[in-house]
Amino acid sequence: MINETYKDMLSKKSVIRELSEFATKRGEEIGYDNVFDYSLGNPSVPAAKEFNEAMKELIDSKSSMALHGYSPSLGNPEFKKAVADSLKRRFGLDYKPTHIFPTSGAAGAIAHALRAVTKPGDEVIVFAPFFPEYNPYITGAGLKMTVVEPDTKAFQINFDKFVRKLSSNVKAVLINTPSNPSGVVYSEETLKELSKILKEKSKEYGFNIYLISDEPYREIVFDGKVCPYPSKYYDYTLSCYSFSKSLSLPGERIGYVAANPADPDSETIINMCGQISRGTGHNCPASIIQQACAKVIDLTSDLSVYETNMNLLYDELVSLGFEVVRPGGTFYIFPKALEEDSVSFCKKALKYDLILVPADSFGCPGYFRMAYCIDTEKVKRSLKALREFVNKEYK
Ligand SMILES: Cc1ncc(COP(=O)(O)O)c(C=O)c1O
Repeated sequence: MINETYKDMLSKKSVIRELSEFATKRGEEIGYDNVFDYSLGNPSVPAAKEFNEAMKELIDSKSSMALHGYSPSLGNPEFKKAVADSLKRRFGLDYKPTHIFPTSGAAGAIAHALRAVTKPGDEVIVFAPFFPEYNPYITGAGLKMTVVEPDTKAFQINFDKFVRKLSSNVKAVLINTPSNPSGVVYSEETLKELSKILKEKSKEYGFNIYLISDEPYREIVFDGKVCPYPSKYYDYTLSCYSFSKSLSLPGERIGYVAANPADPDSETIINMCGQISRGTGHNCPASIIQQACAKVIDLTSDLSVYETNMNLLYDELVSLGFEVVRPGGTFYIFPKALEEDSVSFCKKALKYDLILVPADSFGCPGYFRMAYCIDTEKVKRSLKALREFVNKEYK
């Protein structure tokens, strides 16, 4: 008998994927250059050249076993050490290799973190607007996803609503800073308040509520700023990282879970990740990719194009009268649609070859997302289409 749950999921295809498929089809008709495709969060800049050089050097210098053999089940020692040293240097927490578990991107990291600190039937809180894949990540682990309504003024955390959703069923809170889709970076004040509430409630319930911090955009921060590091504010934090966006390596499937050294259970949790892998059929990322990442641990691709694109779009959106919070990072911007029904808004935009994503699946109807990981030249050309769309349909 086939599994009805996964079969049902087939009829609930991702809106983002559908729009991206539409963009590809439209591109075949009018040339992809003329389709302003703001649908997919696929990095548009090449992988850092140092990463490719590291791969070549590894292939030329190491044995087949070292390159292509099984990774130790808790990860390659060079990778774990490079990550721990880098986090310690950058954020001042006393990470050791035993606090690091390599995973298949942030998705793999979240899958391990969730399973390590919950059991089926527990609740996990997320804050709207959230990355739509959180739904399958959480429900796929047998957990219930509880959504806290958005703070649409700043897209920080709506703490009154958060406190009302907390109960002794909630075992973990999943945050994402900088955020896909809002582009907002959680401030220090937000992280301090979140930590204060989690400490109080953990004491009240008699167990530690874990903070799972999804950080694939940690390195894409604007105005020369640094994203406040959530683990610094709360000991029971599992940082879930990915090299997909910072090094433009989404196809290599590499990331990690970093357990906060201040948590007395941190090393146990990392050891447990090895057991979770056994149960889910996951194995550590490819040995060669772990080794190459270890060699370029503090580098990124040239990410400057995302800030250039953000400024162009933000200024245009504001001048057209959109309500929009200025992103502090990522390659997403999240304006309020010009009509209540953002699906209808995004459908009208298609007439102008603008592919925008309605935010219903992000838990924030009435808004839309633009993923501006595209060439700046195309962003500039799209501004004319955006102006025409707004003026013809809404003025
Ligand atoms: C917020 C967020 N979390 C997790 C992921 C998954 O990242 P990865 O592809 O590295 O698994 C993404 C990917 O776009 C994302 O935007």
